[in-house]
Amino acid sequence: MATHKPLSHLCFIFLFFLHFFSGNGEIRLNYYSQSCPNAEEIVKQQVISLYNEHGNTAVSWIRTLFHDCMVKSCDASILLETIHGIQSEKTSSRNVGMRNFKYINKIKDALEASCPMTVSCADIIALAARDGVVMLGGPRIDMKTGRKDSKGSHAAEIDSFIPNHNDTTLFVLSRFQSVGIDVEGTVALLGAHSVGRVHCLNIVDRLYPTVDPTLDPSYAEYLKRRCPHQQPDPNAVEYARNDLQTPMILDNMYYRNIMNNKGLLVVDQQLVSNPATSPFVEKMAADNSYFHDQFSKALLTLSENNPVSEEEGEVRRDCRFVNHN
Ligand code: HEM
Ligand SMILES: *[C@@H]1O[C@H](CO)[C@@H](O)[C@H](O)[C@H]1NC(C)=O
Repeated sequence: MATHKPLSHLCFIFLFFLHFFSGNGEIRLNYYSQSCPNAEEIVKQQVISLYNEHGNTAVSWIRTLFHDCMVKSCDASILLETIHGIQSEKTSSRNVGMRNFKYINKIKDALEASCPMTVSCADIIALAARDGVVMLGGPRIDMKTGRKDSKGSHAAEIDSFIPNHNDTTLFVLSRFQSVGIDVEGTVALLGAHSVGRVHCLNIVDRLYPTVDPTLDPSYAEYLKRRCPHQQPDPNAVEYARNDLQTPMILDNMYYRNIMNNKGLLVVDQQLVSNPATSPFVEKMAADNSYFHDQFSKALLTLSENNPVSEEEGEVRRDCRFVNHN
């Protein structure tokens, strides 16, 4: 046994160095319990009142978390506006259709009024997504806080992190695996498409010149009605939904739809035909609480992706701009 001792000491020293020099920020449950005890309650009240005004805000918080966290880190880089030296991530083609960013400022204002310069914009994104999920009938998720905000945008790198609507399942799985989310977790996260909308731009390839044979004919008719032009006007607000029955409920209807050839995007429909993903689709279609459990787990992992350290990041005063001082 004695011969193992130096080895374990080495491991200890290695972990010590890893901890202090890897640049990883520390996030934990109730990070603001001393510095801003009401932080989570303030976000929740804002999310509820925004939901009551515009139900789709809750939908957008879920997508915002994905597009923020998937690209390098949950660091609110997606909220930055284009301004000298910064290209906003909002201009990326992968981020088409993202909405309601202006209401993040409202949540931030409410936090600033109670605890100036304390709660990061990255935590607002995470907590708003968590509370948005609840408003949409999804599971309650215990989310850590203490994320720091980036000092720049990752606009140039978005395409290598966020898959396209028509990428292969293999590619999609490898993207999610790179942030620690397995096949089951990836299938669960795509269940987010149980809510919200998709602009015609992302669907027309499946409708024109010929209808994708994997589409249910009546659903294809609905889609063609919603998207009558092969080349949609990019400024027109033409869109369709995956879940026509319960479009504002985060439930397992998504899986039942794709099993019935009513997948909206290519990435959605392919989950059924791929043998690696189809068993999970079937399980989730059959059991809503199993879907919710897997969704919670995977969203949590996504929300903890690669936090920015205190030295590398900051708490932005205004979520749209880095601090200047
Ligand atoms: C392979 C991965 C994914 C791809 C290719 C993808 C693609 C898309 C596309 C093209 C849209 C429609 C945008 C528009 O035209 O307005 C969309 C909407 C949406 N996505 Fe995804 N997505 C993926 C994964 C996810 C994940 C992991 C989540 C969250 C957990 C998510 C949440 C949403 C939500 C909530 C909407 C509706 C947004 C709204 O109505 O405002 N997606 N997604
Ligand atoms: C995927 O869709 C894009 C348009 O969004 C298109 O340019 C590209 O050719 C499509 N790729 C495949 C493999 O169909």
